Amino acid sequence: MKKYILAVAGGGSTYTPGIIRSLMDRLEDLPLSEIRFYDIDGARQSKVVVAAKAVIAEYTDSILVTDTTDPQTAFENADFVFAQMRVGKYALRELDEKIPLSHNVVGQETCGPGGLAYGLRTIAPMIELIDYVEQYAKETAWIVNYSNPASIVAEGVRKLRPKARVLNICDMPVATMRNIAAILGVEREELVVDYFGLNHFGWFTRLEVDGIDRLAEVREHVYKHGLLTEDVSKIDYRHADSSWIKTFKNIKLIMDHFPEYLPNPYLQYYLFPDHIVETSNKDYTRANEVMDGREKTLFETVEKFEETGILEDSFAVGVHGTFIVDVTVSIAQNLGKRYVVMTENNGTIPNLPADAMIEVPAFITADGPKPEFVGDIPYFYKAMIEQQLASEKILVEAIIEGSYEKALQAFTLNKTLPSAKVAKAVLDDLIAANKDFWPTLN
Ligand code: NAD
Ligand code: LMR
Repeated sequence: MKKYILAVAGGGSTYTPGIIRSLMDRLEDLPLSEIRFYDIDGARQSKVVVAAKAVIAEYTDSILVTDTTDPQTAFENADFVFAQMRVGKYALRELDEKIPLSHNVVGQETCGPGGLAYGLRTIAPMIELIDYVEQYAKETAWIVNYSNPASIVAEGVRKLRPKARVLNICDMPVATMRNIAAILGVEREELVVDYFGLNHFGWFTRLEVDGIDRLAEVREHVYKHGLLTEDVSKIDYRHADSSWIKTFKNIKLIMDHFPEYLPNPYLQYYLFPDHIVETSNKDYTRANEVMDGREKTLFETVEKFEETGILEDSFAVGVHGTFIVDVTVSIAQNLGKRYVVMTENNGTIPNLPADAMIEVPAFITADGPKPEFVGDIPYFYKAMIEQQLASEKILVEAIIEGSYEKALQAFTLNKTLPSAKVAKAVLDDLIAANKDFWPTLN
């Protein structure tokens, strides 16, 4: 079987060792000759590569590993690029979360003004990455992108590089399916779902096992426990932190009001922004939880490994690592497997704009995602989606045109912001915090 060259952009990511383990577990399906790690922060990446190399060494010594900050070295002749860049890193994530909260508004990584701020930082680096890949990699190369905020990134790529071979994915649908499967006592792979929406803004409409829709049963469970098994230890490390337990419990809050479909957990921010603000600690947000948890553990593990040669964290894979490898295998082998991913609408949901980047089940082929027809969606969901879509599309226009007015329109349209006055105050504070990252807005 052909051996592939894989590059990882954002090699210094906290997820890198887990994704590498997932790749190693699947070498028979996706044989690799080289893995190249690329990051703009060479020092951070080199530490993470120590852990990645230790994981690889458990499986094979036949993969060439390169640790680089040079795009040509990273992408020359590559077959696949995994993108997982956090532009501005955790320091800016913390501000995305805390600045809005200081105005009593949702502070979050991808939702509300925090997500818009992250989008304003990420479009230019994402386009730069696409251009590097076009310049150096194989013509058939695919970028499989996890970099957030995925909806805004997907729209920016659609608009600025429409022909680029980028598959935008998110682990949230599959992580939600992991919880559903645990609740039903089945394997995640046995679950067949229907789903529609935008990234971090969608609903499951069918949860089928062996031809039987189990949505009603899951709904009954959610009324009692939220989207968690009674024994929460069944949830993998990816969502074991207290903020995630709270988020999966909040599915109950959403379904108590709107029981029709099962929501993506991120809808809590749009449907209950007041509750989220009231129950948030303005001084200690998710960014702090990750910096004190996942990030700290990773760098301590590397330090100890360098001292003792013992790798204390196994970097157990979880859905995040499995999913990116699953979709890549489906592209590489042209399997046409069905996964929930982002793709251009083009009539999949006829009563949404054709050029919306929607998240739906699609068959993943060597030519990219082929979405399955969904049909018209009810007005409530259509109205919510169109408001969010408008906010995201106008934000991308603001980035391209350097328009303050459009940025303010995007913020004002976001359902988490109560008025244009608050939107402007939050936007102005975020401009000051992002002066080294955002395009100039006039
Ligand atoms: P992290 O901060 O640990 O790592 C991100 C890395 O990206 C850093 O090493 C940073 O230096 C690098 N980077 C920043 N700008 C870059 C650029 N222009 N070119 C190359 N590298 C660059 O972040 P993390 O928590 O591991 O998350 C990584 C990414 O994955 C983020 O975008 C995050 O939002 C995203 N994510 C997505 C999902 C999903 O399912 N969609 C889930 C989790 C995380
Ligand atoms: C992260 O992994 O920190 C985020 O990208 C998503 C989350 O868990 O908040």
